Amino acid sequence: MALKALFLTTTALLTLGAGIGQSNAGEYYTLKNGELTRPTGYREWVYVGTPVTPNDMNNGKAAFPEHHNVYIDPASWKHWKKTGKFRDGTILIKELVSVGSKTAVSGQGYFQGEFLGLEATIKSKKAFPNEPGNWAYYSFSGPNHKSLTKTAKPFPAAACNACHENAAADDFVFTQYYPVLSVGKGTGKLATGGHNDKLNNSYQEPKASN
Ligand code: HEC
Repeated sequence: MALKALFLTTTALLTLGAGIGQSNAGEYYTLKNGELTRPTGYREWVYVGTPVTPNDMNNGKAAFPEHHNVYIDPASWKHWKKTGKFRDGTILIKELVSVGSKTAVSGQGYFQGEFLGLEATIKSKKAFPNEPGNWAYYSFSGPNHKSLTKTAKPFPAAACNACHENAAADDFVFTQYYPVLSVGKGTGKLATGGHNDKLNNSYQEPKASN
């Protein structure tokens, strides 16, 4: 009896879950009819790098100002290390941060200032069967980069996807600018860093265990 009750409860919960959105266990995002709810908690994910396109090198108005802190969800990171591929259900976050100061005690440079915005990309065959590579692109950056929206609609493929398709090194993702991803690709190893004298390999743990 108890087992039957458990089964019925589980079935009811699964049905309820399917009705709420397309979020499954193992996915770090919630989609409702293609609209993405603003992801939360990504600063606890795996940080892969920070490209910077400062306004002062882009006629005062970079397409994506200015530092771009990029994160991948932990389950997709694990899959990437094991297989060298982005799993169905991958989400990458790009958090925009202004150039604050240009000088520090260490020298002249571009130092991070204020948070400016939030972009995301998701790979899902189920949600985006017709998008190239099944990737969809989102922006939560509000007007003048002063606030964030709660949800976002996917951009048309021509707005974002095409550029990623033509110029990114790995399945629409610019891994050539994220050394953590390019060095960890398909190694089947932990990537804790500091274990190897060679700088090129310093992201990898010598023993395979993950
Ligand atoms: C002109 C080419 C171009 C266009 C158009 C473009 N991107 Fe990108 N995108 C890049 C490059 C280059 C990078 C990596 C370096 C960087 O961040 O500057 C990147 C990185 C990203 C990343 C981090 C993950 C990854 O795939 O590397 C996200 C998220 C992203 N872009 C979202 C968007 C969104 C949303 C749009 C459409 C509004 C868009 N991009 C349009 C060139 C482009």
